[in-house]
This record gives sequence, structure tokens and C-alpha cells, in this order.
Amino acid sequence: MSEEKMSVEDRRLALSNALGRTDELLDSFLDVMRQDFGPDKHERRDFTQTAADLIPEETAPEVAEPEPEVLFKEPDDDRLHMSYKSLLADSAQCQRCGLCKTRKNVVFGTGCQDRPVVMVIGEGPGENEDLQGLPFVGKAGQYLDRWLSAISLSRETNVYITNTVKCRPPQNRDPYPEEKSACNAYLKRQIQLVNPQAILCLGKPASTLMTGQPDATMGALRGRFFFYDGIPMMCTYHPAAVLRDLSLKRPVWEDLKKLARYLGLQTGGS
Ligand code: URA
Repeated sequence: MSEEKMSVEDRRLALSNALGRTDELLDSFLDVMRQDFGPDKHERRDFTQTAADLIPEETAPEVAEPEPEVLFKEPDDDRLHMSYKSLLADSAQCQRCGLCKTRKNVVFGTGCQDRPVVMVIGEGPGENEDLQGLPFVGKAGQYLDRWLSAISLSRETNVYITNTVKCRPPQNRDPYPEEKSACNAYLKRQIQLVNPQAILCLGKPASTLMTGQPDATMGALRGRFFFYDGIPMMCTYHPAAVLRDLSLKRPVWEDLKKLARYLGLQTGGS
């Protein structure tokens, strides 16, 4: 038996025996010495206590902390079980965050609802989107349509478009984390129902939310494939950001080509 597997009792006994044998050797040695140098008083000792002193009681082996018992469970969000129609109707009445106070329209989503090739996720509705109740209908939206067309996609046929939040953030500011999380069940359920072949996240709010990396930069997230619930997902810059900084055009095109190659789509332009 290896020493690690011996019980404390067995180890103490073995040590006690070994000490006893050593003592016997010492005895024999003393016998010889006595013959040469005269009598000596040598008492045989019981090494049981010595062994017990040298080998302490076993400390309790480290065991993994048991999983804490779940006493409180987040209530299941009703929205995660709704049909597309009910989800849309629910969103029209939504007052789960402050954005409901300033919106003109809820901008739920548009395009192919039945297994589109790509689901585009933007940040949140802007002024035009808020007025029309449709995502990406302003300048950035028109530019997005050109990107999609360059990889054989269109919102009319094989793309579904939505946003991380369904109501316009005032002054087009980034949506707050509480707003994104209040709205997240809509997005989650939309993805389940629409069941896209791939997801394209545009800009930081969508990319950080969907990858679960709140502190990552766009530079770190773009051009890579992630998986969201098993769905391949690509992140790239937002069309509005590219309109402000044309140097982002090339990386976006690289990202779109990568996505197109993955999906077997024809690409045009350069
Ligand atoms: N920008 C977005 O992120 N979404 C829109 O719907 C419009 C502009």
C-alpha cells in the first residue's frame, strides 16, 4: 500500500515498529559496548506515543464547496415563450424602461422572419427609425443596404434586421445597460423564432452585448466568428461609424467578405 493511502493508524504502527527495530539495533550495539565498557542501564521504550506525536491526526481532505441551494430563482420572462405575433404586440405596450416615455414608435424588427441567411443587430433606433417604426431607414440604413447587397443579401428577401433596444435613446446616445437588459428578452426570443443562419452585430453596443464582453473594444471583437446559442456570429463596425471615419471601410469589407465566404455567398465590389 502506498503511504498516501495508509490510514493514520497504520502509519503510526509502521513508524512505531521501525522505531522499535532501531531500538533493538541500539540494544545490540549497547550489549557490545557493555561487554567492553561495563554495565549500562538501557530501557526498552514503547514507541507508540512517539509515533502518535510524529504523525498527527489526518486533516480533513479538501472537498469542493457544495453548490449553494437555489432558494430564489429569477422569474422566467414570459416573453421567452411568446409567438412572434404576441412578442410584437407586447413590445408595442412595453414600459419596462424609461425609453418608453420619449419614443414615438417601438422599432421591433423587419425583414425575413423565417430562417434568414443573416440577422443584423444594430444599436437602437435613431430619429427616422423612431418616426417610421422601422430599423435602419436613415442614412446609416441606406449604407447598410449597400453592404448587404455587396454580399448578395437584402432585407426584402434573406435578412432580418433589429436592434439591441427597440425604442430610441434620446439624442441617439448609447443605450444604458439597464435599457439593454430590459429589452434583452425581446432580442433573445426574436433570435429563437427567426432562427437565422448567422448573426451580424453592428457597432459596440450590439457586439459587446451579444458576445458577453462588456469591456471589449470593437477592434478586439470585429472580424472574428463567435457563436451565439450555436449560431455563427460576426461583429463589425456600425455603418454610422464608417460614415464618420472612412478608414473603417476596408476592415468592414474584410469582415463582410469573411461572413460571405462562410455562408457561401457571392461577393461583388472590392
Ligand atoms: N442605427 C442603429 O443602430 N439602428 C437603427 O435602426 C438605425 C440606426
